[in-house]
Amino acid sequence: MFTGGDQNQYCFGEGDPDADLMFVGEAPGKDEDAQGRPFVGRAGQLLTKIIESIGLKREDVFIANILKCRPPANRNPETKEIALCSPYLIKQISLIKPKVICALGKFAAQRLLETETPISKLRGNFYDYHGVKLMPTYHPAYLLRNSIGKKDVWEDMQAIAKELGLKVPQGRSRA
Ligand code: URA
Repeated sequence: MFTGGDQNQYCFGEGDPDADLMFVGEAPGKDEDAQGRPFVGRAGQLLTKIIESIGLKREDVFIANILKCRPPANRNPETKEIALCSPYLIKQISLIKPKVICALGKFAAQRLLETETPISKLRGNFYDYHGVKLMPTYHPAYLLRNSIGKKDVWEDMQAIAKELGLKVPQGRSRA
């Protein structure tokens, strides 16, 4: 656990260990810290809808974060914390062997791709992450404040579904 905070639990991730699709967010928030599960707050509820928009259920994918515990007072993760947590994420990816990783938001996308390019420029394209296709898209917490980004996320999810060979049910409503 990081020092100086009010963290309760580690939050390693959850989902299908054989998932073809893995989501990676930034760090657990207050709700996630309380439950020890990733993306269970408001942003998490929206992520569930985003997953369902391509005909999958939450249990079909694996959901993790770069950081495995909540930064004190929700401050931005520090370099030392990223370095401490990264081996866990790398191990998770090597065990799950997803076909596609969806990086949720600027922080996850920039750290995984080791770039400072803005998320608005990164999203919408696949990148190579050690042999795995990686699609950056906007973080669901950002969408809660900026619903204009939902169309882009919907398009990114359609590209992921196509890459995975999923048949998205016609008339699926956007998240
Ligand atoms: N935001 C994240 O990046 N991860 C979570 O688990 C919850 C909110």
